[in-house]
Amino acid sequence: MLKEKMEQEKKVAGEAAVDYVESGMVVGLGTGSTAYYAILELGRRVRDGIKIQAIPTSEHTRKLAESENIPMIDFSKTIKIDLTIDGADEVDPQLNMIKGGGGALLREKIIASASTEMIVIADSSKNVPCLGQFPLPVEVTPFGWQTVVPQIEALGARAVLREKNGETFVTDNHMYILDCHFGEINDPVVMEVEINDIPGVVINGLFVGLATRLLVGQGSSVKTIERE
Ligand code: A5P
Repeated sequence: MLKEKMEQEKKVAGEAAVDYVESGMVVGLGTGSTAYYAILELGRRVRDGIKIQAIPTSEHTRKLAESENIPMIDFSKTIKIDLTIDGADEVDPQLNMIKGGGGALLREKIIASASTEMIVIADSSKNVPCLGQFPLPVEVTPFGWQTVVPQIEALGARAVLREKNGETFVTDNHMYILDCHFGEINDPVVMEVEINDIPGVVINGLFVGLATRLLVGQGSSVKTIERE
């Protein structure tokens, strides 16, 4: 897809999601290049007077939200989030997702799980019939991550330790990530549990049954898909 079209679709989807935010809400703020547009739009609404409190899914998003003067709250004050807006790496027709391309999957899953509603925002390239072309991120402990590799490979993937600028990538939670090339994940419900059962796995990027609504950019318009 052309970069300009993709960027436009991310922007329209991100901005449209903010229409669901109401005064008084606690809002989960996603991570990534699509969530970026939602956060900028939310910043504009805050300047216009909407009263919300936000919980960020990453340190990167925290800094962006702070620069937008979006008021923040944390789990010591509330464990209930009304609405989370976040991106995805792949979304299937049941609104199951692969997330974690940016490495924020653990906080993203904690926040999505605590949310009454989760709106996923995406450009149209993220819509897939079956998950798995995008390598599934699996967050692992630095101690013993090597033992996780063959157990993931026994499930049918090639697992690669994520690197950034020639060094091992470290998450906000001081963990590592294995990018697991499955090709096709036919049963994400079972796969999510099987991977989480491996000792050393902290969390994996399969988000099953968490998204309630998908806003997908299509050129300059937005298509809304509700979970059935
Ligand atoms: C961050 O860890 C991810 O889960 C992102 O939400 C996902 O990678 C989507 O990012 P983009 O909106 O940048 O494609």
